[in-house]
Amino acid sequence: MDDTLSRRSLITGAAATAGSLLASPSRASDPAITEIQPWNQELGSPVDAAPYGMPSQHEADTVRRNVEWLTADTTSSINFTPLHRLEGIITPNGLCFERHHSGVADVDPAKHRLMVNGLVDKPLVFTMEDLQRFPRENKIYFLECAANSGMEWRGAQLNGCQFTHGMVHCVMYTGVSLRTVLAEAGVKATGKWVMPEGADAAAMTRSIPMEKALDDCMIAFAMNGEALRPEQGYPLRLVVPGWEGNMWVKWLRRLEVGDMPWHHREETSKYTDLMADGKARRFTWEMDVKSVITNPSPQAPVTHGKGHTVLSGLAWSGRGTIKRVDVSTDGGRNWVTARLDGPSHGKALHRFYHEFDWDGGELLLQSRAIDSDGNVQPTKDALRAVRGTESIYHNNGIQTWHVRRGGEVENVEVG
Ligand code: MTE
Ligand code: CO
Repeated sequence: MDDTLSRRSLITGAAATAGSLLASPSRASDPAITEIQPWNQELGSPVDAAPYGMPSQHEADTVRRNVEWLTADTTSSINFTPLHRLEGIITPNGLCFERHHSGVADVDPAKHRLMVNGLVDKPLVFTMEDLQRFPRENKIYFLECAANSGMEWRGAQLNGCQFTHGMVHCVMYTGVSLRTVLAEAGVKATGKWVMPEGADAAAMTRSIPMEKALDDCMIAFAMNGEALRPEQGYPLRLVVPGWEGNMWVKWLRRLEVGDMPWHHREETSKYTDLMADGKARRFTWEMDVKSVITNPSPQAPVTHGKGHTVLSGLAWSGRGTIKRVDVSTDGGRNWVTARLDGPSHGKALHRFYHEFDWDGGELLLQSRAIDSDGNVQPTKDALRAVRGTESIYHNNGIQTWHVRRGGEVENVEVG
């Protein structure tokens, strides 16, 4: 059964009945129409009331949220992007999820330096001003924490896409390509790895293969047109497009070029995917093709009753663009192709829609993304068959939302 309500049938249907399908004629007596509202009678606030603007007071629900039991304290912790309250593909700066190992560093840009050392011809130290004299580039990329959806490996757990999928954000970065900065110092032939280090108390260090460093990595100082937010690494962060979030070192202060990764010196157990047989997958840096329906979802139930309904969601892949998203309303038995809308950038979020006529019955909503590389988002069961349930990282399984008759939505698993 094709449950899509085409634009044509919507228009002809509307013409056949007295008014619009989507608005009620009885609203002529609606007090919102007949009464004059206060904001129509009183002067509004002056232009100097908010030198840095904030959203409407009626949008107070559109905030990052954390899960109390998830971490011991809120300093070495995480909060989540309210995906169910957002449109398009760009995450507003104040709503980008945060992940810190030692809290938000408060860095004075005048005293911030970026050092490039190790296996280079000439070690260099840059000020922020120095860096801003290199040619700049503007790119839109998603950042996803490897642990996104990590609490869902053993079964449906958290009730809301903010919590199941909200460790992702997508902004436009402005900065300098890492290639340019490395070329300035001159990488020696033996230099095979770049090891970025943060200026926070965690002095976070990661290892990036030289091939990736010279490909599309950036040293960014701005996001969505303004300086980076402190939470996102002000004044400087590394951008590692399509790769897991932990490599995107914030408050970036040093790039050491080496012949082997830090992993070999310091750590072997972190950021690996533990599998059922006790072996661990390592160097799983690329983020797999993934999608989620953001509306309806547990925090965004259907409140308008049956009839014309807009389903909306996000899809992304660390390997390129999104070619297609399929949507099912019956738990994966039947699929229809969703409508992609908005710009399609590689390694960025993509927005999809599926307009349908809800009969008021129960639904099991799913979305399945396919990327430009041909990778298809797997079911959770297919993923578990390969990886087991011991990992917390790289869960890109298909999410199911159960829509009840009343329109409430719950996180479930099927079959
Ligand atoms: N960089 C530093 N210096 N310190 C950190 O704790 N956390 C990493 C990464 N870079 C971290 C860091 C992790 S695990 C992730 S997922 C991303 O930053 C989160 O980026 P965001 O806070 O901008 O969302
Ligand atoms: Co992370």
